[in-house]
Amino acid sequence: MSFIQATDYPVFVGSKSLTDLHAWLEEKNNQYDKLFILVDELTNENCLPKLISTISLLDDVPVIEIPSGEENKNIEVCMSVWRMLSELEAGRNSLLINLGGGVIGDLGGFVASTFMRGIDYVNIPTTLLAQVDASVGGKVGVDLDYLKNQVGAFVNPVAVVVEPVFLRTLTKKQFLSGFAEVIKYGLTLDEKLWKNIKHIKLSSEELTPIIKRSIEIKNEIVLADPYEKGIRKTLNFGHTIGHALESFYLNKEKSIPLLHGEAVAAGMICECYLSYKLAGLSHYQLDKIVNYILSLYKRVRFSQRDFNSLLELMKHDKKNINGAINFTLLAEIGKAEINHEVEEQLIIDSLEYYVNRTQI
Ligand SMILES: NC(=O)c1ccc[n+]([C@@H]2O[C@H](COP(=O)([O-])OP(=O)(O)OC[C@H]3O[C@@H](n4cnc5c(N)ncnc54)[C@H](O)[C@@H]3O)[C@@H](O)[C@H]2O)c1
Ligand SMILES: [Zn+2]
Repeated sequence: MSFIQATDYPVFVGSKSLTDLHAWLEEKNNQYDKLFILVDELTNENCLPKLISTISLLDDVPVIEIPSGEENKNIEVCMSVWRMLSELEAGRNSLLINLGGGVIGDLGGFVASTFMRGIDYVNIPTTLLAQVDASVGGKVGVDLDYLKNQVGAFVNPVAVVVEPVFLRTLTKKQFLSGFAEVIKYGLTLDEKLWKNIKHIKLSSEELTPIIKRSIEIKNEIVLADPYEKGIRKTLNFGHTIGHALESFYLNKEKSIPLLHGEAVAAGMICECYLSYKLAGLSHYQLDKIVNYILSLYKRVRFSQRDFNSLLELMKHDKKNINGAINFTLLAEIGKAEINHEVEEQLIIDSLEYYVNRTQI
């Protein structure tokens, strides 16, 4: 129940996962001369004590702290971590342990895979988003100015440790952001998962099997199509319109930041409407999905006068082929179809549908 084999590394999941990491580290005792832990100020406070108290071996390991937030996922912060590793005399046989959300995982993985031409790293994701999405797949990297994930590589960790207890200190907003990816896995690939998530209490222990199933799904897809040539595009459901909303909000002054999963949740509503129009999703299922998402997520505010800006943003999406806006749509719950090209008027209609459904 607590172990998934990814490409060539183990993913330990559940309440015994830290103990599993302890055993794994002991087994590798001779392989690594020095260990380092990377945190941000929030995981330093909320997660590090639990990690160290469970794994005595990590007691005296140097901790490198970087400031939290996407705005710090950049090359300057990488330089400060490379320098710290140098000063602390890290070597080719050192191991970096990333304890944090997707920012720590992406940046720490990038730092490790380039330091001295590459040292090993372990991911201990502490947000739901990082646990169910960023933790497997091997994408590491940083942002370049305002371009997300512009510099990076595919380099796998040597182990991943998913301990749901870390999620207890997450804000509800952050929690729901990660949960949108879980909903996406159910809708696109696993009807049983979709049925299960509707019956569980969020943020409870019951979540462990759901997290484990989500990681299995992501892992299977990544193994089948590591470079997103085909089936991995399934995971883009909700993201064509979701990414446009995310960028739209980034450019909007004085607005409360829109988290990735919040944008994807709204994107999934619009793309379910497109699925109903173009891919055979029934009206009954459309209604069920939309009602469920709206019961969890606050309305993302945009109106008719924003439709053209959103469309422009979609036209610049790197997922497009030959200039056409590319969608993954649902034929039914649990069954997705990739590579749908959708005409602009229908995309506008789907935005209109969202606005109408969320009007109070
Ligand atoms: N590599 C991939 O395949 C992949 C996939 C999806 C997303 N990502 C990347 O992940 C990033 C988003 O991840 P995220 O949402 O985890 O962001 P994040 O790392 O910024 O974490 C969100 C916030 O939660 C805080 N936090 C983390 N763990 C906590 C805990 N247990 N208790 C309290 N606070 C905690 C962090 O300090 C931060 O303020 C983006 O940069 C995105 O590009 C990567
Ligand atoms: Zn996503």
